[in-house]
Amino acid sequence: MAETATLSYGGKSYELPIITGTENESAIDISKLRSDSGLITFDEGYKNTGSTISNITFLDGEKGILHYRGYTIEDLASKASFVEVIYLLLYGELPTQTQLSEFEGSISKHTLVHENLVKVFEVFPTGSHPMGQLMTMMSALSSFYPDSLNPNKKPEETNLTVIRLLAKMTTMCAMIHKKGKGHPVLYPQNKYDYVTNFLYMTFGNVSEEYIADPVIVDAMNKLLILHADHEQNCSASTVRIVGSSHANLYASIAAGIAALWGPRHGGANQEVLEMLEDIRTNAGGDVKRAVAEAKDKKRLLFGFGHRVYKNFDPRAKIIKVACDNILAKLGVNDPLLAIAKELEEVALNDPYFVERKLYPNVDFYSGIIYKALGFPTPMFTVLFALGRLPGWIAQWKELRERNENIGRPRQIYTGYTQRAFTNIADRK
Ligand code: ACO
Repeated sequence: MAETATLSYGGKSYELPIITGTENESAIDISKLRSDSGLITFDEGYKNTGSTISNITFLDGEKGILHYRGYTIEDLASKASFVEVIYLLLYGELPTQTQLSEFEGSISKHTLVHENLVKVFEVFPTGSHPMGQLMTMMSALSSFYPDSLNPNKKPEETNLTVIRLLAKMTTMCAMIHKKGKGHPVLYPQNKYDYVTNFLYMTFGNVSEEYIADPVIVDAMNKLLILHADHEQNCSASTVRIVGSSHANLYASIAAGIAALWGPRHGGANQEVLEMLEDIRTNAGGDVKRAVAEAKDKKRLLFGFGHRVYKNFDPRAKIIKVACDNILAKLGVNDPLLAIAKELEEVALNDPYFVERKLYPNVDFYSGIIYKALGFPTPMFTVLFALGRLPGWIAQWKELRERNENIGRPRQIYTGYTQRAFTNIADRK
């Protein structure tokens, strides 16, 4: 017999089914709770709430495990390319060589953006934040593809929309980087693979031939794979909830970009580097002072803590090793790396961080690598978005394939109870 949990309330008891996933995590199914008992559950920040059933990504925060479609993040980061991982997330299986070539080929046919989108882009003032530019361009893209505005009317358009989005994302991210530098924008070159094309448009130069550095291509693939999905995090949940109203993919992804921008989510990668720079220049490298300030709640230690990982973040482990290797291969000696390592050491041995299970997360070392590759700090969260795009799309596709209900949480109201209206002349 299927397991149940019993809830007793108001002299009655209610049997609530238990549902169990393939990795044995279990949940109490409360979908009939309100209609049966009049009760709702209360869980601010959804710390204990499963919002969907998914077969994309599995993570175990206690054991530090992360799988995409059953493959470990360690295997994928060391053995796959980013495009293979995109395919895996979107279609559920690793591609054969033929499938991969066809997939990458179809993406490369859609990398150009409409010249009118370039006009939208041109009006952003120099120095405007890259994430604001990306979010705006993402929602503006919908204007150019009226057939994909209502995913219910032309579902056969969805795969083309997915390909377009993946393709144009690299172009838009590179355009934003070029604008920040005051350099002319480069048009994509179909002879390059997905990641190399992005690097060419970003670091190439109109007046010189571009020669891709294999160290940089490899580092970029690894970083993008590590960011590609992370189940029901803040931005993925945003994409799903916007998509649940049957909003189109461009609008849903623009909302995901907005959620990612916040410093408690993807925006933390920019904050980490600024924090390390601040410790170096304003505190003479005194990491103990920064840790003391974090304990006094005067500052957050950006790049530390995670809603789900309470042991270690497996992505952070991979990135820390990659950071050492990449900087050594590129011959970069960044004093911020030494500060980051010391900060980690001090924090991990401090009871405040130990008791609260606060460990370095994916953002702690990634910025040092991005900096070594040549990206300015405000671009860091855009790179996160580039990596996360396939995950967001996979979450949106899954929501539609499951025909999920519109996302609409309830609340406990604590405002005024009904009161009489006062005419304006009588108000004090
Ligand atoms: N520095 C100092 N103290 C911290 C930090 C931190 N980075 N993170 C959590 N704490 C403290 C909180 O103040 C709280 O202390 P208290 O028990 O004395 O009140 C306790 O640890 C628990 O913190 P919560 O905020 O309840 O933990 P939650 O799981 O809700 O938040 C979060 C997780 C948002 C990631 C948080 O750790 C944080 O803000 N970290 C810094 C920002 C960051 O690096 N974000 C990136 C996360 S990874 C990603 O999104 C890709």
